[in-house]
Amino acid sequence: MLYKKIIRPILFKTDPEKIHHFVINILGATSVLRPFYFLIKKFLFIDDPRLHVKLGNLELKNPVGLSAGFDKDITAPHAYPMLGFGFAELGSITNSAQPGNPKPRLWRIPEDKGLIVYYGLSNSGSLESARRIKKKMQKRDIPYGISIAVTTGLKESEMADDYVRSFLDLYELADYITLNVSCPNVAKCDVFAQVSFVEELLKKINKVVSAQGGPVFSGKKITKDIFVKIGPDMSYEDLDKVIDLCIEYKMTGIVATNLIKNRSWVNKFKSSKEKLDHPGGISGKHLQQRTNNIIKHIRERAGDRLKIIGVGGIFTAKDVYAKMKAGADAVQMITGFIYGGPFTIRKINKELIGILEDKKLK
Ligand SMILES: Cc1cc2nc3c(=O)[nH]c(=O)nc-3n(C[C@H](O)[C@H](O)[C@H](O)COP(=O)(O)O)c2cc1C
Repeated sequence: MLYKKIIRPILFKTDPEKIHHFVINILGATSVLRPFYFLIKKFLFIDDPRLHVKLGNLELKNPVGLSAGFDKDITAPHAYPMLGFGFAELGSITNSAQPGNPKPRLWRIPEDKGLIVYYGLSNSGSLESARRIKKKMQKRDIPYGISIAVTTGLKESEMADDYVRSFLDLYELADYITLNVSCPNVAKCDVFAQVSFVEELLKKINKVVSAQGGPVFSGKKITKDIFVKIGPDMSYEDLDKVIDLCIEYKMTGIVATNLIKNRSWVNKFKSSKEKLDHPGGISGKHLQQRTNNIIKHIRERAGDRLKIIGVGGIFTAKDVYAKMKAGADAVQMITGFIYGGPFTIRKINKELIGILEDKKLK
């Protein structure tokens, strides 16, 4: 109530990117103060065995994770368990540092409970990110994924190797890796969302992971879960091919989905045409049903051979339940957290327990 009635209207008056940086810096500064961290986490983090979930090799205390894009520069990693998330995905990170698209590049569309995102993969690059992770994240209370994307401006023939370099810089430091082949906000994204590119990339990653003796870090071979993040605009024919490739190249699963790029849907939106004219991908409410359908489709085709992290338009426990009913093993969110505020994850987890009890489910 306090957030929605007082804090959010104040925050939403200011430029969205400035507020994003302001909030994440505050979260970064407060979450490293240990007494403060433990006090808030005690209240916001729900640890109830009924919410525990196994996702590949990961043991999650609850199925609600922070989606990639909120913390691209490893600014506030400890804030996410403090706020109640069961896991968090950092990044997306590219091999070379890059500034992203010119500002402004983030807009709110409250009438459609969404955001228009045109960041264009701004981040500090894989080596600097690795340095920050080593420095800040020795102690971890939840599993952290690292999302990898491709450096902007490369030739097609250089793209897969760019992912592989970031993969090798970050693999040891992540609890899981997500290969983001779906960002709609950079030049040539049509290339890396193509099935032929996904195939080339997965082949190379599989070779690195399954090479004899490798990848070896600090003297031992380590195995991490690897996910592939897809967009919602892909045809079902291409989606089937990507599902089959993920199985063939032994990926743990799929993160479904990234932002909507296809603007032919926009006629269903309530926001003014002027607002919707901004470039970029759209998050939030309008992704909800589309991603639920995609999750259902992946589950039907893959059976239990792939894990699914469902993302898109989650605001309430009912939305989480709908994604899990469609076949997701866990979920992630950003927009619902930005609109809902700091108590959102606690509320969702509490209500999830209620849903499980009502429906007599485990
Ligand atoms: C501000 C913002 C930045 C994002 N940046 C990334 C990113 O760098 N990598 C990525 O895979 N997804 C990114 N996304 C997409 C989200 O991870 C998520 O897939 C999408 O927003 C749908 O979830 P939501 O409706 O809960 O926001 C971003 C989303 C937002 C809102």
